[in-house]
Amino acid sequence: MRNFNEDNITAAVIERLAGSTSKRVHQISDALVRHLHAFVKEIEPTEDEWAAAIRFLTQTGQMCTDTRQEFILLSDTLGVSMLVDAINHRYPGDATQTTVLGPFYVEEAAELPLGASIADGEPGEPLLVEGTVRDLNGKPIAGALVETWHADSHGFYDVQKAAGKTELHMRARFLTDPDGAFWYRSIVPAAYPIPNDGPVGRMLDAQGRHPYRPAHVHFRVSAPGFETLVTHVFVSGDVYLDSDVVFGVKDALIEPLVPLAPGLSPAGHRVDVPGALLAYDFVLPPQN
Ligand code: BEZ
Ligand code: FE
Repeated sequence: MRNFNEDNITAAVIERLAGSTSKRVHQISDALVRHLHAFVKEIEPTEDEWAAAIRFLTQTGQMCTDTRQEFILLSDTLGVSMLVDAINHRYPGDATQTTVLGPFYVEEAAELPLGASIADGEPGEPLLVEGTVRDLNGKPIAGALVETWHADSHGFYDVQKAAGKTELHMRARFLTDPDGAFWYRSIVPAAYPIPNDGPVGRMLDAQGRHPYRPAHVHFRVSAPGFETLVTHVFVSGDVYLDSDVVFGVKDALIEPLVPLAPGLSPAGHRVDVPGALLAYDFVLPPQN
């Protein structure tokens, strides 16, 4: 077939997909071609605009390093990461809500004993984080792995500051006790802009958007026989809760910072200095 034009080229490309190596490859390629052609037909780009689009994607790839994933930022800021998250976690109402993983998760964070500090001497308001991990019937899950990480009081993650070094802090792995409980010490995290010195930052500027995420603590909670939970707990009152640049906020994940005086926390953990408590009980659905 020859003589392709605006009216017949979409069908011609789709016809060429007939030899796809699997039904899924065919389905994805077919949808990609149909939607991409529809997009181009709708916006009718000039050749300069199309060249700029290709330059933008090229620069997005060139910006990626071991510690900077510009394509994740692109997916996050266009709401695609939250869409993929929603499609893949259609859980019963009582299960803890999920949200984006983000680009700052590190698998090999240190496993620390319950009650340890992850702040590593970083300055900030002392924070006690405590909670439980349970199943849908409220039964505690002992030995669940609770991986947690968050930004410092200036809004930076360790991997952003370390630039090539391997010092990990403000992150750790804990195992829940026989009552499904976990607790650790840290400092209150701040709201922060996502890395915006690259193509995604320029896109946000052009779209008239700010780059901020409201203050939050990340969690990845896993246990044999249960779906792995990836979520955050957001700090209530943050000015960016309704305009999170990556669309990750859900009401059920917002908790207050409760002032804590020296003594015992609500769950009975020792508090030596005045600070704040962030408490959250996680509920894991059974594995599908
Ligand atoms: C984060 O919360 O760590 C994050 C999520 C998405 C994009 C950038 C950062
Ligand atoms: Fe974060």
